[in-house]
Amino acid sequence: MSFFEEKNPEMERYLETHASSEPDILKKLRRETYQKTTQPHMISGYQQGRLLTIISKMMQPKNILEIGTFTGYATLCLASGMSEKGKITTLDVNEDLAYLPKKYFAESGYSSQIDFRLLDAKEFLKETDEFFDLVFIDADKENYAEYFRLIKPRTKSGSVVMFDNVLWYGKVLEENPKQKSTQVIKELNDLIAKDDDFENLILPLRDGVNFLRRK
Ligand SMILES: C[S@@+](CC[C@H](N)C(=O)[O-])C[C@H]1O[C@@H](n2cnc3c(N)ncnc32)[C@H](O)[C@@H]1O
Repeated sequence: MSFFEEKNPEMERYLETHASSEPDILKKLRRETYQKTTQPHMISGYQQGRLLTIISKMMQPKNILEIGTFTGYATLCLASGMSEKGKITTLDVNEDLAYLPKKYFAESGYSSQIDFRLLDAKEFLKETDEFFDLVFIDADKENYAEYFRLIKPRTKSGSVVMFDNVLWYGKVLEENPKQKSTQVIKELNDLIAKDDDFENLILPLRDGVNFLRRK
C-alpha cells in the first residue's frame, strides 16, 4: 500500500474505478500474492501495473530487464507490450517464492519470452553485454545507485529506465538520514538529476517512480 492510499482510500478507489480494468490473470496473481506471501505490499499493484503496461505498449520494446520479480505482477505488465519477438529478463534472489511467478508466467502465454533467473542483479549486470530498451528496477534499495552505474552502459538512445520507491515514504526529505536505504535512494536521485545523458521526472505515483529516458 502506498503513502497516498493510506491517506486517502476514497481517492484511491476513484482512481481505480476510472481506469481500464485489471486483466483476470493479474487479479488472480494479486489475490494469491496476498494469500501466500508474508510481504504482499511489495507487489507493484494496479496503478503502477497500468503505467508499466501502457509504457511497454507504447514502446513495444525488444529487450526488457526487470530487477526484482517477486510474484511476477510487473513482469506480466511489461511483457504485455513487448514486440512480437521481444524478450524480458527478470531477476530475483528469492528461491522460496519462485514457484509463484513460474506458475503465472506459464499461464500467461508469454512464457517462451520470459527469461526468469534466480540471480543477484549485480552479478547479472557485471556479466551481461546486452542492451535494454526498457528497464524496471524494484529490488534492494541499498544497491540502487550501483544499479544505475551498471545499467547506464547497457542503455542506448531512447532507452527508458524506471526506478521504483524513489520517494521512500517521504524519507528522501530527511537532511542527514541514518538509514542506509534512504541515503542510497537520495544518492541515486542526485546522480540521475546531474546526469546529462538522461532526461527524467520523478512521478509521485505510489512511493515515487524515477522515470528516465536516455537522450
Ligand atoms: C518490491 S519486490 C518486487 C516487486 C515486483 N516488481 C512486483 O511488481 O510485484 C522486490 C524483490 O526484489 C528481490 N531482490 C532483492 N535483492 C535482489 C537482488 N540483489 N537481485 C535481484 N532481486 C533482488 C526480492 O527478493 C523481492 O522479491
